[in-house]
Amino acid sequence: MSIDLVKIIKLPKSLDERGNLSFLEEERHIPFKIKRSYWIYDVPGGEARGGHSYHKNEEIIIALSGSFDVILDDGNNKKTYSLNRSYYALFVPKGIWRYMENFSTNSLCFIVASTVFDEEDYQRDYQQFINSKINKS
Ligand code: TYD
Repeated sequence: MSIDLVKIIKLPKSLDERGNLSFLEEERHIPFKIKRSYWIYDVPGGEARGGHSYHKNEEIIIALSGSFDVILDDGNNKKTYSLNRSYYALFVPKGIWRYMENFSTNSLCFIVASTVFDEEDYQRDYQQFINSKINKS
């Protein structure tokens, strides 16, 4: 899986004097059916999250509030996305190593996932992740 398939999706925005509203629909604004959502919050300063890839799961990551960095790695190339807008959705395909850091105070990381939670779907060992990429190429 190549890092070139990672993309930022600009979500719709409805702006009026009462404030802003954004939304997403499965298979319309994002390229999969939604099976799960979860959110990460109250991350202490200096902590990192993630540090894994998935065999099957694909995700959309949104900074609903505050900011943080998402570092992505396909085994050959790395790319960092700094998220700080609630209408930017980062699409991360399966098979991409990712971790998140530099969470601002009160940041809220919202994630929409294509599969239900399954610990078996995780690759949590970076060396094994790299080895699996070498064995495939
Ligand atoms: P984990 O995926 O390790 O967090 P992160 O990738 O952000 O570092 O998940 C932390 C814990 O929460 C772990 O015990 C698994 C559990 N968990 C669920 O039970 N369901 C879920 O949907 C997720 C994402 C995690």
